[in-house]
Amino acid sequence: MRSWRLARTSMRRGFGLPARRFSAKTKPNFSQTSSNGVRYTVITASAIAGVGGIWWFTKPTRDTVPVIELQASKHTLNKPDLSSDEITQILSQEAYSFLIKGVSGVDRYDGTQLASNGICEDRFIHGKLPSPRDDDKPWMAWAIFDGHAGWQTADLLEKQLVPLVQQYLRQATIAFGEQSGYKEAIQQAITKAFVDLDSSIVETAQETAQSNLPFQEKMQKLLPAFAGSCALLSLYDPVTSNLHVACTGDSRAVLGQKNSDGTWTATPLSIDQTGSNTDEISRIQKEHPGEENIVKNGRVLGIMVSRAFGDGRWKWPVEFQNDMIKKFEAPPLRPGNESKTPPYITAKPVVTSTVIDPETPSFVIIASDGLWDMLTDQQAVTLVSTWLDSQTPFTTPSNSTTNHKPTYPPFDLSQISHNSTTGRFSEERTVLKDKENVAVHLLRNSLGGNHAELIGGRLAATYPYSRDLRDDITVQVAFFNCEGV
Ligand SMILES: *[C@@H]1O[C@H](CO)[C@@H](O)[C@H](O)[C@H]1NC(C)=O
Ligand SMILES: *[C@@H]1O[C@H](CO)[C@@H](O)[C@H](O)[C@H]1NC(C)=O
Ligand SMILES: *[C@@H]1O[C@H](CO)[C@@H](O)[C@H](O)[C@H]1NC(C)=O
Repeated sequence: MRSWRLARTSMRRGFGLPARRFSAKTKPNFSQTSSNGVRYTVITASAIAGVGGIWWFTKPTRDTVPVIELQASKHTLNKPDLSSDEITQILSQEAYSFLIKGVSGVDRYDGTQLASNGICEDRFIHGKLPSPRDDDKPWMAWAIFDGHAGWQTADLLEKQLVPLVQQYLRQATIAFGEQSGYKEAIQQAITKAFVDLDSSIVETAQETAQSNLPFQEKMQKLLPAFAGSCALLSLYDPVTSNLHVACTGDSRAVLGQKNSDGTWTATPLSIDQTGSNTDEISRIQKEHPGEENIVKNGRVLGIMVSRAFGDGRWKWPVEFQNDMIKKFEAPPLRPGNESKTPPYITAKPVVTSTVIDPETPSFVIIASDGLWDMLTDQQAVTLVSTWLDSQTPFTTPSNSTTNHKPTYPPFDLSQISHNSTTGRFSEERTVLKDKENVAVHLLRNSLGGNHAELIGGRLAATYPYSRDLRDDITVQVAFFNCEGV
């Protein structure tokens, strides 16, 4: 509300009108807004044309006023369930899929995104990364930035994290090549890029706040420190067949690998860093001896993740924090959560490096927690392997239970509140419909699969009501050595 008022005020100033015309008593309702609009026009026009007076009485040559339609659209009043096509359209509107040539070992990747927030707070990137070794063997990069309390931090990471990582990787690979020490050097380079970029977001706030920049520029620079974001970066080096996964927060990468008996094994390549992770809890408690209740109900002073970019309120010194609240409306910690010895959360990632065996068909699923809220690592791997099997051109589409049209009893959300597993993925609801994109296949099955009412209702709910039914969800899947499987 406060920020709304601010916007209005500066807009009025922009028109150079005396403030008293728009006294605070003026209620901002629809008709007054429009009559003010007319006044702006009058004054601006007369100032430009130099003709005082009441030109608007002159009849316009053409009447352009819209006529209100009285015929209520049947479409909006009695809209049936989302049609199956509409559901597919919503699930795949952000979908992409690429076959990869010229990067040995990796065949293809697919991705998609579904927003729940009014402005999606997830960001992602994908593609070839020019080789840090300066040779002609590009790496592959996939990344998901799951923002919270706004999209501003995620947005900055989308643009700035990989270029900085690349810069540090070049120094590391030039020094280490593929020799021993390679993994450690790569991991250190990625870690340093994460930490340095976060410092530049959070620690420069003091400088920004005290600078002579105009208010609007300060505000713009500070927003990425008010909001926060997780980062999950996966880098594939084709020379060493290493998949390096750097995780800050609770997005997750899971490796699927085919066994000789045809089954698939799921191995997480990152561990969610939240207030429920016991390693994280003991790390934080060790860093803040004598402070009780920092981690409560799976949250660190109120926030779910124990590592993140931005989030100045968990990092800034208390005094500066208060100053930021006063001068810039920085968001405060929630009542009852007291910051005594910040920082409490960090952007320092945990980096794992995994050699992708060239003989083993494999894939990596990279997703924000919106997906992992709905299914387990193994369920996701099984879904992708089922999809992969369906890609083989010689397989006759089977009449298995997967595509029959099941019937379910009438659905409402009390079924989820009585039994939280009802809202999660279940195998009986598996549907194999999205042959062109495995990320859409995962998304559809995570949200209800063949349970038309469940998935339709979830998608019919728009922001802010959607937030209780689904999170922003971003999914990427990359295939290694799967060609011809
Ligand atoms: C901290 O904030 C969380 C989330 O807003 C709230 O649920 C919790 O009660 C607060 N902690 C304390 C100790 O009051
Ligand atoms: C699948 O089911 C349809 C209709 O029930 C049937 O006509 C068809 O022969 C079946 N195909 C296979 C491969 O069993
Ligand atoms: C909850 O639902 C799942 C499947 O939807 C079922 O397997 C499970 O038994 C149910 N749990 C309870 C406590 O009713």
